Amino acid sequence: MTALIGPSGCGKSTFLKALNRIGELEGKVKVDGTVEFFGQNIYAQGININSLRRQIGMVFQRPNPFPSSIYNNVAYGLKIFKNLSRTDLDDIVESTLKGAALWDEVKDKLQQSALGLSGGQQQRLCIARALAVKPKVLLMDEPCSALDPISTLKVEQLLHSLKEQLTIVIVTHNMQQASRVSDYTGFFNTDESRVGNLVEYDSTFKIFQDATSESTRDYVQGRFG
Ligand SMILES: Nc1ncnc2c1ncn2[C@@H]1O[C@H](COP(=O)(O)OP(=O)(O)O)[C@@H](O)[C@H]1O
Ligand SMILES: [Mg+2]
Repeated sequence: MTALIGPSGCGKSTFLKALNRIGELEGKVKVDGTVEFFGQNIYAQGININSLRRQIGMVFQRPNPFPSSIYNNVAYGLKIFKNLSRTDLDDIVESTLKGAALWDEVKDKLQQSALGLSGGQQQRLCIARALAVKPKVLLMDEPCSALDPISTLKVEQLLHSLKEQLTIVIVTHNMQQASRVSDYTGFFNTDESRVGNLVEYDSTFKIFQDATSESTRDYVQGRFG
């Protein structure tokens, strides 16, 4: 699990979105260089973008469930990509909601609207929706920034169990969160000439205890940003 940290506007979200080519949906983006996923450059010609985004899922800052039932939110990707029987679908919805630590709270109201859930529950539902299609990587852009401390703790606990199963890249503003949950940390900053400058990348321990760059040390100690 890798945390991306850095002051607002330094290009963290943009970088994250480059990792599953989702930024392209927002309009004109120019990308240089390569992003390798299992040895394959995802920017090479002929890449199947739908399959790529299925394998590299994303969870956004504000929970964005579909205006549909809790059940349908989880089943959505499965219905599109797989031809499953109703019982198989039911089983996957249940196991996915369990995996997202939400099952006990919603098992009696699966057909109710997802929009009736609390913010923290909605965010865990969005995580479940992303997990349902069994991605290999999950990109998360400040997934707790719109949540209260208790919901944040629940999502963090969930991240701890998820990182045993898949690769997670998480953007966070919360230094404690970054140091608690991640194994590696990348510090981004803006310098005179450009946005999106990766200043330092190392084990989370090194970044927080003994960073090489002075600006990384200043940032993790809360001296700016
Ligand atoms: N590598 C880059 N080159 C040029 N502009 C960038 C780059 N990365 C980000 N930007 C621009 O900088 C602004 C802030 O980027 P964003 O990714 O939203 O920052 P953050 O998520 O760190 O707050 C956006 O307008 C974005 O388009
Ligand atoms: Mg951002």
